[in-house]
Amino acid sequence: MTISNTEPENWLAQRVAASRDSFRQLENAGLGAKIAQSRDGKTITLSDGQKIVEFASCCYLGFETDQRLVEAAKRSLDCWSTQLACARTRIVTHEVLELEGLLSQILGGMSVTVFQSASLAHIGVLPLFASGVLPSFPMRSPRFILDRKAHASIQVLRAVLESFGAVMMVDIGDLEAVKSNLQSIRRAGDTPVVICDGIGSMGHIAPIEQILLMLEEVDGFLYCDDAHGFSVIGEHGQGHAMTHLRRCPHRGIVVVSLNKSFGTNGGAVAVPTEGDLDLIRRYATSYAFSGSPALALVSASTESARIHLSEELGERQRLFRDNLAVLDLELDGIGYPLINQHSASPVRGIVLAEEDACIKFCSSILRQGFLLTTALYPTVERNAATARIAVSASHSRDEIVGLCRTIRDVASRSI
Ligand SMILES: Cc1ncc(COP(=O)(O)O)c(C=O)c1O
Repeated sequence: MTISNTEPENWLAQRVAASRDSFRQLENAGLGAKIAQSRDGKTITLSDGQKIVEFASCCYLGFETDQRLVEAAKRSLDCWSTQLACARTRIVTHEVLELEGLLSQILGGMSVTVFQSASLAHIGVLPLFASGVLPSFPMRSPRFILDRKAHASIQVLRAVLESFGAVMMVDIGDLEAVKSNLQSIRRAGDTPVVICDGIGSMGHIAPIEQILLMLEEVDGFLYCDDAHGFSVIGEHGQGHAMTHLRRCPHRGIVVVSLNKSFGTNGGAVAVPTEGDLDLIRRYATSYAFSGSPALALVSASTESARIHLSEELGERQRLFRDNLAVLDLELDGIGYPLINQHSASPVRGIVLAEEDACIKFCSSILRQGFLLTTALYPTVERNAATARIAVSASHSRDEIVGLCRTIRDVASRSI
């Protein structure tokens, strides 16, 4: 076999080539996939016996270890066994329908269906949306304004989008650029479509309210991934995007993940009408030709949804915000740029910039018993390597203060 030394030609091969060395370095530094043997709350025992406190799970409200969810999953296993191995276009359990009804209440009364994950929801729904076949979103030669930082599960569908209309990459926080693109698309008589994350997994908060106002003026549509905003923000945990979209539901689609704060497994899509859902259920490949989300987790999700619709959710959100405030305070002045300090986003991070420095930093923190997420290119942009910190309502104050003390110590030695 001959090995070519030439630059790879396609974008994915280029990304792989540009990141291969740092992933190898990450693994050599002991930051590759750790093998977890058991857990006790936020403390994980690894296969080599080391106990670490993880600040890597994005289950910000701590529902993942809630006993009510665990018991619901067990009851489902007794009732349904592991799965009903059949597409939902043929037979669907009443629990799935019940879950969708509860999620609709959480998501501002929009029509909701569930997928096995948010990523699979994108694969099923984004092509249908872009094609203009969903009744609420008629497209006249669509053109897509895609946020540069939108999640990888959307970026990977860029070529699919391009088969329906031109894609322009923008920084969603640059409202002037968004506006001038929207207006020029409209002047050409085409349909403008904005695609972005509500709360970015590595930083920014999208200005959804302003974008919706602009879309109203140009008769355009929004497709928003709010995986990180769901549960943790807004009434009943409706999320950052739905807090605004609920006032003009005909303007867009929101996709959420149940794999994060919701504490279970799966994804959900919220669309304006049952007519949109009918089409998705019939034609979305990851719905029509795929099995149901795992039934035990559907029952756990139903339990989580009931909690979201009760007063308890507000208490959890407050507890989480209190923990986030402790982190923000303790990290003040550590000497590195911080992501989102004191902001409404649940995501926090320390920008180390160079990949090498970030790997060394996270590795030193891990040796002291705390796991952060080492985010490198292509998850973040080049030279923006970030140690991401995911605080949860389940962390104790001592755990957060202990982490921050370690971070200060490691930072003072690295600067
Ligand atoms: C913004 C965003 N969207 C989607 C996903 C994927 O969600 P899921 O695990 O449900 O596919 C993630 C997970 O990292 C994410 O951060």
